[in-house]
Amino acid sequence: MNTKINIKSPTGKLGILTPGMGAVSTTFMAGVIAATKGLGKPFGAISQMGKIRIGKRTENLNPDIKDFVPLASLDNLVFGGWDIFSENTYDAAMRAGVLDKNLLYSLKDELSAIKPMKAVFNPKYVKNINGENVKKEATNMDYAKALMVDMENFKQENNCDRLVTVWCASTEIYIKESDVHQTIESFEKGLIENDPDISPSMIYAYASIKSGVPFANGAPNLTIDIPALVNLSIEQNVPIAGKDFKTGQTLMKTILGPGLKTRLLGIDGWFSTNILGNRDGEVLDDADSFKTKEVSKLSVLDSILESDKYPELYKDMYHKVRINYYPPKGDDKESWDNIDIFGWLGYKMQIKINFLCKDSILAAPVVLDLALFMDLASRADMKGIQEWLSFYFKAPQTKEGLEPLHDIFLQRIKFENTLRHLKGETLINHLGLDYYEEE
Ligand SMILES: NC(=O)c1ccc[n+]([C@@H]2O[C@H](COP(=O)([O-])OP(=O)(O)OC[C@H]3O[C@@H](n4cnc5c(N)ncnc54)[C@H](O)[C@@H]3O)[C@@H](O)[C@H]2O)c1
Repeated sequence: MNTKINIKSPTGKLGILTPGMGAVSTTFMAGVIAATKGLGKPFGAISQMGKIRIGKRTENLNPDIKDFVPLASLDNLVFGGWDIFSENTYDAAMRAGVLDKNLLYSLKDELSAIKPMKAVFNPKYVKNINGENVKKEATNMDYAKALMVDMENFKQENNCDRLVTVWCASTEIYIKESDVHQTIESFEKGLIENDPDISPSMIYAYASIKSGVPFANGAPNLTIDIPALVNLSIEQNVPIAGKDFKTGQTLMKTILGPGLKTRLLGIDGWFSTNILGNRDGEVLDDADSFKTKEVSKLSVLDSILESDKYPELYKDMYHKVRINYYPPKGDDKESWDNIDIFGWLGYKMQIKINFLCKDSILAAPVVLDLALFMDLASRADMKGIQEWLSFYFKAPQTKEGLEPLHDIFLQRIKFENTLRHLKGETLINHLGLDYYEEE
């Protein structure tokens, strides 16, 4: 047994704020409200339906995760956020067209009451959309302060004990880390001087961390992946995690990739293409936003396959990812993967995957889990990057100098062991030599 960590109990209400109240955010909010009313089950949410093994296999102890660690209950969640469009969550969810209209109608009162606060927006960073529900301030520091006021007001008005922020807004254009991102001082100076390398998502993240509110990044934007904000999160004792929800095609890749690798099947090429027609697809139709997504999606296989250790199997693999905006599909994304593999004596084989998924249906439970586990981390005094939540991300953020872990099964072990550690339980690596002793 390890020492049990002191975790504050999740008393009172937890406010979940999402910059961006589009398809993912509204599907998440409507889904939680539906679940609390018994109108649907939160399938896919490990915080609600997951179990964790404790102790030896022979002990047969598998409590629900939500009973094992103290998580905020669904009844105690309050929702809010920001968007450049002023429509309320009911109208936004209807327009997104993910959930059944009858279900949404039965939640109309609750959803209509959730209205987006005015957003911090810069069309340079998200090109294909423009809305009217935006703040007007002189400097980026003023924007950050206005967001902090929003958070404080939301907390007071909704009688919240704690808040957590999950970025669910559009993907920003691809940018690289630069001087202004290096230290807290350079970043704050950049906020005051409107440095062009500071994106809106960074302003939300700064405001959140400064307010002591955990921040998770569901999109592939650089956002908190810069030394200034990592250091700020440590200084402020705030957990952060990112980036880019692991759903759809990449989820499949991190399920299948480790399987092929573990049997040492070689891969000549992996071609992935998608068609989707929601607003996310519209934004990703812009080459600069697509670049951000592409980098995030491409990074996955490298670490799983370890081509440096297995050059004969993976060094020459051709990996290509395409996303095409195709309006008739709406939120029903369709993806195709063609995987050219080889086995014994180099004989070639092919795998084809055609995944007809609903992007926001896959993302909604991830938003819920991230919000609840980030809140748990905060109550357990865990600060900085929460690598144990890599399980939920396409491009997991890690401490400097560390390679991210992409294999979903290793990520799950790390996630569960962190929960065991918090509760002072023995960590399980499934490697017990059961010829000699009980595992
Ligand atoms: N659905 C998935 O499976 C999935 C997976 C990984 C990542 N993501 C990412 O999650 C994000 C949300 O996806 P979605 O399908 O809900 O997209 P969406 O287009 O339906 O919603 C995004 C919302 O963000 C708003 N927005 C843009 N810039 C903003 C800003 N600066 N401040 C506040 N609001 C802003 C837009 O107006 C829009 O309503 C995207 O970045 C997407 O790439 C989604």
